[in-house]
Amino acid sequence: MADSALPVELEPRGNAGRRDLLSLVDGTGFELDLTEQDSGAADDIRFAVPAITDDDIDAVTKVLRSGWITTGAECLALEDELAEYLGVEHVIAMSSCTAALETAAAALAMKPGARVGVPVWTFVSTALAFASHGAIPVLIDIDPTTLNLSPQAVKDAVEEGLDALVVVHFGGVPVDPEIYAICADAGVPVVEDAAHALGASDDRGLIAGRGTIGACFSFYATKNLTCAEGGALVTEDPEIAAFARSFRSHGMSRDAWTRYAPGGNALYNLVMPGIKGNLPDLLATLARSQLRRFPEMQQRRRMLVDHYRERLEDLDGVSCVPTEQHLGSADHLMVVKLPRYVDRQCVIHRMATKGIGTSVHFQRLSEFAWFQDNAHVGPGGTPAADSLARQVLSLPLHSLLRRRDVDRVVDELGHALG
Ligand SMILES: Cc1ncc(COP(=O)(O)O)c(C=O)c1O
Repeated sequence: MADSALPVELEPRGNAGRRDLLSLVDGTGFELDLTEQDSGAADDIRFAVPAITDDDIDAVTKVLRSGWITTGAECLALEDELAEYLGVEHVIAMSSCTAALETAAAALAMKPGARVGVPVWTFVSTALAFASHGAIPVLIDIDPTTLNLSPQAVKDAVEEGLDALVVVHFGGVPVDPEIYAICADAGVPVVEDAAHALGASDDRGLIAGRGTIGACFSFYATKNLTCAEGGALVTEDPEIAAFARSFRSHGMSRDAWTRYAPGGNALYNLVMPGIKGNLPDLLATLARSQLRRFPEMQQRRRMLVDHYRERLEDLDGVSCVPTEQHLGSADHLMVVKLPRYVDRQCVIHRMATKGIGTSVHFQRLSEFAWFQDNAHVGPGGTPAADSLARQVLSLPLHSLLRRRDVDRVVDELGHALG
């Protein structure tokens, strides 16, 4: 496509220096007791930094010393704790959100050539997880105020013919519930790509795969809760849960934990061709440790987003995405829409020279060569996404930021815009 975005540089600067992050207190009433960690040059504001505490490190060290580092008791405990937090029956921990999406795609048992609707505005794996099972991605337009799927565009695509739909809760903002109703009426199964949405809620409660095939979460390094790499498939359906447990272990009837446990049976059967998608205990324990303080980390993100929104009002021509704050958002991203006349690449570069990391969420799937050759586009095309393609920018947002960091980011953005 003629107007594809230039490759973006996501990392701002070098990595020199250490910053003492012990007991960050910034007058907001929040105190984060953090382990001293490498967070870039003293005055760098990175786009995303994982908040790792001494408790996290102790938890990982304990597993390292335990004699069992891959999937086992820690993973089972994480599944139970996540199920309790989300209020659902079935949580299957996975090696990534991508693995969870691939599992959901396999559970749908679609015929080759099945048409699977995906937002044009998402990360590649939302669509690739289904394409790798023989589906044709159908790229659907977004609502320009949220960057989430447009209900009208979904309706049009469903009328044209979809075998399944994947929704993405972009930036942690739940999709418009009307989309579930449209799909339910047409008998189109829905999978939730909830990579950004741990802790997000809509009128069904916390996003947890309610009324859909399931929700797929990510615990990747930049996510609100991280264990470096990891994910989970969450579902209300016991058959999908049983399928997922086997599918993530190559399709074996019994996983290593039950085979090697004292008195376990070393033999197994292979019931289908699955994937290697299990989450090791070494990472599960980090996710458990983070889950214990997840509500506080989320509270802090909300405080920072509120402050960003207040400060960004000072910048002419800049608006926040979503335009209206969604109170059920997981506040995963702080996205702004830049004035149309601005060269985003220049802004990214200027911010980087000031030590401020930014990112772009997302490039449209239609910009990538593979999708151009292998995807369909929903009826009516993707005009909203196309018109925003070069205007959005993600500002730093993570639970180690302070209000004064937000002030600096907004001030520097103002200078970069001239
Ligand atoms: C919307 C979306 N879906 C899926 C993924 C894939 O997550 P993971 O890296 O855990 O596979 C990402 C990754 O950032 C994402 O942003």
